Amino acid sequence: MKLTKKEIARRLSIWNRTSSYEEAAKKIGIDSKTFADFLRRYSDEAPQLDPVERVGMKSQLSYIKKERDAALKRASAAENIRGSLLNLPPPRKAPPRKPAKSSDGSRSVILHLSDIHYGEVVRSSELDGVNSYNLDIADSRIQRTFDIFQDLITKYWNGEPPEHIHLCLGGDMVSGALHEELKRTDALQPLASARTVAQRLSEGVSGLLNAVQVPMSIYSVPGNHGRTTHKPETKGAAMESLDTMVAWFLEDQFRSHDDVQMFYGDSIDCLFDVYGRKFLLTHGDRMGSKGGAGFVGPVATILRGHQKLSMDYADRGIILYRILTGHFHTTSRLPIGYSNGSLMGWNDFARDIRARKEIASQNMLVVHSQHGVINFQEIHPGLPDEGTIYQGT
Ligand SMILES: [Fe+2]
Repeated sequence: MKLTKKEIARRLSIWNRTSSYEEAAKKIGIDSKTFADFLRRYSDEAPQLDPVERVGMKSQLSYIKKERDAALKRASAAENIRGSLLNLPPPRKAPPRKPAKSSDGSRSVILHLSDIHYGEVVRSSELDGVNSYNLDIADSRIQRTFDIFQDLITKYWNGEPPEHIHLCLGGDMVSGALHEELKRTDALQPLASARTVAQRLSEGVSGLLNAVQVPMSIYSVPGNHGRTTHKPETKGAAMESLDTMVAWFLEDQFRSHDDVQMFYGDSIDCLFDVYGRKFLLTHGDRMGSKGGAGFVGPVATILRGHQKLSMDYADRGIILYRILTGHFHTTSRLPIGYSNGSLMGWNDFARDIRARKEIASQNMLVVHSQHGVINFQEIHPGLPDEGTIYQGT
């Protein structure tokens, strides 16, 4: 079909105002292949950009290139620290596990640790005595979480012991001086917080393994508080997070322990497999669902996020069995996943938005080889002298 001069000019003008073949073709009303053919033939007739506009575009391009180079540099520096300083092998993704035989009735347990916010300080007096949090309380709650978990899989456990422990580190291990007020009030600098919380987790894992001698897989994903960039960025989100550094420290601690394997990678998501069922661990700040839902609270937002994650993975041909998220500091059992509470509990931010008073809480799941998740339990590590919210819970 022969195009009129007016139509050629219209198409080229649209092309000049859009950023992709697909977008331009859609606006013109033709398919992108036809548009590519058109461009091959007529692009020489495209009107030249205004010189001022061209300078603007060039400077934008050079800014984007600079950002890209800086991101690559940071990524390679992170890899250098990991490889040269700690001498760790390349990170691994969690392998698929064989489904149990139909006669097998074995069980595994999942402990979901997230939103520790190590370093953050919550002053009891500012919260009318409801809750408090500091380094000593964080240390005590981490240890008590492991102690209670150990009791639940030994003292209060019937039948054969669990055959595997899946420890999920779901992000926000540190407060990370994320905002101006946290910079002023955090009890430790971000790197020191990462090092110390890793040490506390390592003590918890060691104590647990000494007591139960059960093989353990540790998975790690980044949260938002551990980021090392001023604003949230999409590229390098996992590699540049202090949460990933916590995983490095742990990996370093257990490198010669045959029963402990670490799994994490460059992705913000971690898929792992329990008896052939796919679990997805992700922090919850990047699931396409943000904000509250008025009086309903964050649960509706979390449910919408789980739904979006489920559809995202279905598009990739992966059917998720359950999703494990944190970030909202809200304990909840939902149709396709579980939302984790926090170790810090109700804080000043939660008070300001008049959120429901959540106690410090972490999730535990028991997975049966045939029946899937058969038990969901909350671990409450807070003590009465840490706030009125723990008196009577
Ligand atoms: Fe958090």
